[in-house]
Amino acid sequence: MNKRVLVTGGAGFIGSHVCEMYVAGGYDVLCVDNLTSGKVGNLQGLMGHTRFQFVKEDICNLVGMRYLFETFQPHIVNHHAAQKSVVASLENPMDDLDTNLNGLLMLLACIQKYPIEKFIYVSSGGALSKVIVGDEKSKESDMPQLISPYAITKYAGENYVTIYAKAYDFDYTVLRYANIYGPRQIPDGECGVVPIFVNNILANQPSVLMTYPDMPRGCTRDYVFVEDVVEANRLASEKATNTVLNIGTGQEIAILDIYQAILNTFDKEVPIMMEGPRIGDVKRSVLSNDRAKKILAWYPRTSLEEGLLSLKKAIRARS
Ligand SMILES: NC(=O)c1ccc[n+]([C@@H]2O[C@H](COP(=O)([O-])OP(=O)(O)OC[C@H]3O[C@@H](n4cnc5c(N)ncnc54)[C@H](O)[C@@H]3O)[C@@H](O)[C@H]2O)c1
Repeated sequence: MNKRVLVTGGAGFIGSHVCEMYVAGGYDVLCVDNLTSGKVGNLQGLMGHTRFQFVKEDICNLVGMRYLFETFQPHIVNHHAAQKSVVASLENPMDDLDTNLNGLLMLLACIQKYPIEKFIYVSSGGALSKVIVGDEKSKESDMPQLISPYAITKYAGENYVTIYAKAYDFDYTVLRYANIYGPRQIPDGECGVVPIFVNNILANQPSVLMTYPDMPRGCTRDYVFVEDVVEANRLASEKATNTVLNIGTGQEIAILDIYQAILNTFDKEVPIMMEGPRIGDVKRSVLSNDRAKKILAWYPRTSLEEGLLSLKKAIRARS
């Protein structure tokens, strides 16, 4: 019998790649998404597949979600649905709370009634980064800065999952993603700096870089190609880890250097404008991936140059 996996947020950028991995791996997949930022078009290659179903539903709708749990009876819940923007969480913390915490609690309420084997919770290593000093990297055991509502709800979510896993006897893995980029990402917020830059560069429009007096090249981030993240989900679905794992490359890159790498990949020259600091921004972010290597045997395989080249090919194939 195939394992059944319910993927929330499966019509989104990362979730749609994860759905593809599950179908290719022989899982029966139920993708649940309310299409706030996700698109049915992201699931084009899966629609009509016998092992794939898509349902437009809001994870905050307990009645609807209970019905899906009752009828589908998932073995695994892979929870990607979220309000994903730090900036939006500061502008509308109620919405962030509703999607990122109430939505999670609705899923956990369903699990109380319809037991599962495994829960994969997607969190944010960038937002939950500690203050980085010198050559340090953020570890899972460090105390996060918690300087945005998004960071608070993701961190609270991790803790809810841990408590429920013990109370209702299921395995869990928290995947703390660094900054992910790749095909299907939309330019809608600070997570989307790569597609924002790519779109501007292709349109020969200047981009904007938020800088700080001590960080003239902008904030630093740890960029992971989406295929590597998909592999982390595959491994976490096969293994019980019962812990939090950073999914990052361990390489700290200034956002201006990302811009430069994109210019090189697309062979373009387009200027960038510098602006002042933005509230809620984690200034430096780089994740230690030692634990993911050790526990999950996960390694980031794609260099930034290779990832940007794959993105370029995907954009060319689409147009
Ligand atoms: N992209 C990154 O760099 C990054 C970094 C760290 C963590 N994450 C996390 O990864 C996950 C996926 O992010 P993404 O970049 O693919 O974003 P995305 O916006 O493309 O995906 C999120 C999906 O969730 C869906 N969704 C939102 N609210 C919902 C609700 N109430 N009910 C059902 N579906 C809902 C959206 O329609 C969308 O399809 C999120 O949990 C995000 O916080 C992303």
